[in-house]
Amino acid sequence: MKTTISVIKADVGGYVGHSAMHPALVEKANEELKKVKGKLLMDYHVAYVGDDLDLIMTHKHGCDNSKVHKLAWDIFEECTKVAGKLKLYGVGQDLLADSFSGNIKGAGPGVAEMEFEERKSEPILIFMADKTSPGAWNLPLYKMFADPFNTIGLVIDPKMHNGFKFEVLDILENKSLTLSCPEELHHLLVFLGAQSRYMVRNIYRKDDNEIGAAASTQKLNLIAGEYIGKDDPVLIVRSQSGFPAVGEVMEAFAFPQAVAGWMRGSHFGPLMPVSFKQATPTRFDGPPRVICAGFQLADGMLVGPRDMFDDPSYDETRKEANRMAQYFRMHGPFEPHRLPLEEMEYTTLPAVMKKLEARFVKHS
Ligand code: F6R
Ligand code: MG
Ligand code: MG
Repeated sequence: MKTTISVIKADVGGYVGHSAMHPALVEKANEELKKVKGKLLMDYHVAYVGDDLDLIMTHKHGCDNSKVHKLAWDIFEECTKVAGKLKLYGVGQDLLADSFSGNIKGAGPGVAEMEFEERKSEPILIFMADKTSPGAWNLPLYKMFADPFNTIGLVIDPKMHNGFKFEVLDILENKSLTLSCPEELHHLLVFLGAQSRYMVRNIYRKDDNEIGAAASTQKLNLIAGEYIGKDDPVLIVRSQSGFPAVGEVMEAFAFPQAVAGWMRGSHFGPLMPVSFKQATPTRFDGPPRVICAGFQLADGMLVGPRDMFDDPSYDETRKEANRMAQYFRMHGPFEPHRLPLEEMEYTTLPAVMKKLEARFVKHS
């Protein structure tokens, strides 16, 4: 019997502003999930990063199961009521649909799911980021599953030596392409380097098609047609015994790459790996950050979490991220700190342009 792991997340109210999670929301989510443990769900864990609430759930019902998705939707609605009473900021922000209609995808919340036969031992790493978008996973996923300078297992572990297949989604045209590495590596990088449009959705081991990684690829601004909420992403990675080792997965975050997001979803800034305790973006609503919850899966039970970035070996990465943050901030409203116009999720510029349109003088 296969196990499914579903990570479904939403921002239903921030404390204070967009900076963190109020404990009452976590308590409510735990209370609701407890009611279905051993019934619809095998196990669960409630995590949070910045203003995002992450429901980590295991069950036997496969991906895209409407009962599991409805459970998550209902919990977010319950938490929205709690957030409303406390007058938290942006109450119900990511619940874009008026009601649940079968699948939570496209309704606002972010979803990453995978189904597999549990191995003798199943180490799982769940990454959750705030103040950035799903394109932020492209570079670390490339490093984990295709770069031998990051993952030596690609060279010396016979179980990984043949490489992995990357399913890449074009979020503008809603179509995907699967590329096989290492032989199509150069094709892959054409797409992965354009992370505002192309995003890794799933990764499979070439030898046996076993799933290795699954990412959330929802972009709320595209779903809504105008800026409403944030698309802060989640990612599930399987590890060890033919997948990248835990250390190879974690190593991919030792470089604080520049990602889109940060203040008003409109700036580039460093992605800072932090402990659960430090997942509270406050400087200029950032800089963007990522946490990692590690679990051993035991017949559907989530043994954990371990706070994976709570490790002094990431101190230098955090220091570098803060140095980068300082450098970017000095640009103020100038690119490349501020995103190029076409990538800005919401802006007053179209309105300003309209107002000034008549004053433009055409030159021959
Ligand atoms: C970014 C984010 C925040 C807000 C900013 C302005 O993801 O959520 O940076 O965009 O605090 O928020 P409003 O427009 O609600 O005042
Ligand atoms: Mg928010
Ligand atoms: Mg957020």
